[in-house]
Amino acid sequence: MDSIDLRTLTILAGQRLCERVPESRQADIAVRYAARSPFLIERLRRLYGAQPDFPGWLLQLMDAVGALHAQRDPALLAQDADRLARPDWFASQQMLGYCTYVDRFAGDLQGVIRRIPYLRELGVTYLHLLPFLRARAGDNDGGFAVASFDEVAPHLGTVKDLAALATQLRANGISLCADLVLNHVADDHSWALAAAAGDARYQAYFHTYPDRVEPDAYEQTVRQVFPQAAPGNFTWSAAMQRWVWTTFYPYQWDLAYTNPAVFASMAEAILRLANLGVEVFRLDSTAFVWKRAGTDCTNQPEAHWILQALRSLVDIVAPGVLLKAEAIVATPELPRYFGTGEALGHECHIAYHSSLMAAAWAAMAEQSVALLEQVIVATPASATGTSWLTYVRCHDDIGWTVLRPEVQALGGQGDARLAAVSAFFDGALSSGFASGATFQSSDPSAVHGTNGMAAALVGFERAGCAEAEQLAEDRLALLYGLACSFGGMPVLYMGDELALGNDGSAAGLQDGRWLQRPPFAPLLMAQRHQLQTRAGRVFARLGHLIATRQRLPALAADQPRSLLATGQAAVLGLRRGPQLVLLFNFSDANVGIDLAQCTGRSGRWRDVLADAPANDTLLQVAPWGMRWLVPA
Ligand code: GLC
Repeated sequence: MDSIDLRTLTILAGQRLCERVPESRQADIAVRYAARSPFLIERLRRLYGAQPDFPGWLLQLMDAVGALHAQRDPALLAQDADRLARPDWFASQQMLGYCTYVDRFAGDLQGVIRRIPYLRELGVTYLHLLPFLRARAGDNDGGFAVASFDEVAPHLGTVKDLAALATQLRANGISLCADLVLNHVADDHSWALAAAAGDARYQAYFHTYPDRVEPDAYEQTVRQVFPQAAPGNFTWSAAMQRWVWTTFYPYQWDLAYTNPAVFASMAEAILRLANLGVEVFRLDSTAFVWKRAGTDCTNQPEAHWILQALRSLVDIVAPGVLLKAEAIVATPELPRYFGTGEALGHECHIAYHSSLMAAAWAAMAEQSVALLEQVIVATPASATGTSWLTYVRCHDDIGWTVLRPEVQALGGQGDARLAAVSAFFDGALSSGFASGATFQSSDPSAVHGTNGMAAALVGFERAGCAEAEQLAEDRLALLYGLACSFGGMPVLYMGDELALGNDGSAAGLQDGRWLQRPPFAPLLMAQRHQLQTRAGRVFARLGHLIATRQRLPALAADQPRSLLATGQAAVLGLRRGPQLVLLFNFSDANVGIDLAQCTGRSGRWRDVLADAPANDTLLQVAPWGMRWLVPA
């Protein structure tokens, strides 16, 4: 660094980038580089400026990135241009996500192409396919132990199939989202194999230790993600004769982002997939990518700089692409994944709102919206160019501990409150309606995550009569109603639209999360237009919710949101945009709301969900019901 100042380096790096790009595109790239490079180079300098030959490394990176841009398909370039002109395209209330496993949903990638009409019928504009890259042979954490970023899992298809799927989705107005596991690779990824074989260059891709001194010190402050199935955060590699950092399963080796080569390798992997047509990257386990002694090794400032540097690169060479943070962290940490202060808008475009999701389920268990209101109070307004990802269920357990700050804010001490919520959803314990299961439950006094499909957790599996069936449907609609109206991009989890239940065959598996990864049911799909079936009723109900949402610009992610005091402990009140009022009753009782008092407006209202006037002074909200109201 001493031999060359940052300004000169920035100019040289820009030249290197542009040299690789066809002449016709150089002017565009130069403009974007000029806008983003101060930030990019500054972040990379913070991370790697002290490394030997930082300038040489940077020039090489820009060379590689430029070459990848040169290979970008004209159709993707056109899309980039279009999105640059509408940077808020993904904040629209027309956006709807769908998340599924490829094999469970449709067999393979070509099968997904055949299911596009189904996705379109639902109104889907964004499809998150859970890991489909070649994963580790044998156990692979549902594909999250990636063996190659450049190959598709053979049973799902080929790279050609992937590109074809992305093209077909794009032609149908659906953006393809892929997982990009940032934190680790499989122990049979070529980098790990080379490291195990003694290659020092690749050993430097991982955190390895000759003895237990450092691992033991880290274990004092680092938490365990899978305390039962994968206790400890370090694994002994007999081949290397060293301990390797493995936050998740022992076969998932954490990458050492202290090494600039790791950053460059991952940035290039992202851009190669972007060139195949992946439009959104779900950056898996983002919170964990930087380790610091004496901390819990999550949410470190450097983790954010890494994301910011990746974002800057994407903004320069693939500006149609979105980065989505999978950071399942407490509410106060969440907004940082969009960037804060001078970095606002320079980090991820989208972030999972796991606290909102967990608090909505907690509200159902407690029949009180207190925690939910705390989460909402702690959620800042969405800045331009950012959006929450709102959801009800996903392939992981519901982690309750993200709600600790909210519990504390309400005067709670310890984990008893969250443990009670967790117990509520455990079908084996609960006298309520849920049929879930606790996750990683070796210690009976700890707060466990909850597994189970949404349909099972809201009561469909236990519903023995039409009335219970109706209540389960209302609960599912209530949760999706919140996800569809909070302000963000709602994502349907595979099969929820058909009330698909738990995977019975998952019982006894070491990783209980397979409970919510059942095979998709073609039979239920075939019933989706038959209102005498459960699948048909739920499909119609959620379909109506989605269609109503699409008609309400006040529900776009960037529209204002505020809490309304409903005067009822179980009823959440939200105002969206200037005058849309939303009421959600998280209780099994009918509740009356004084609308004039709650909204400060005494005129007449119309319920846009029910498509009916709502003129009562004391507006009734049915058990587990909701009202979406506009001034009449
Ligand atoms: C993410 C995934 C989860 C996986 C973990 C490790 O949290 O959602 O399924 O086990 O990362 O890759």
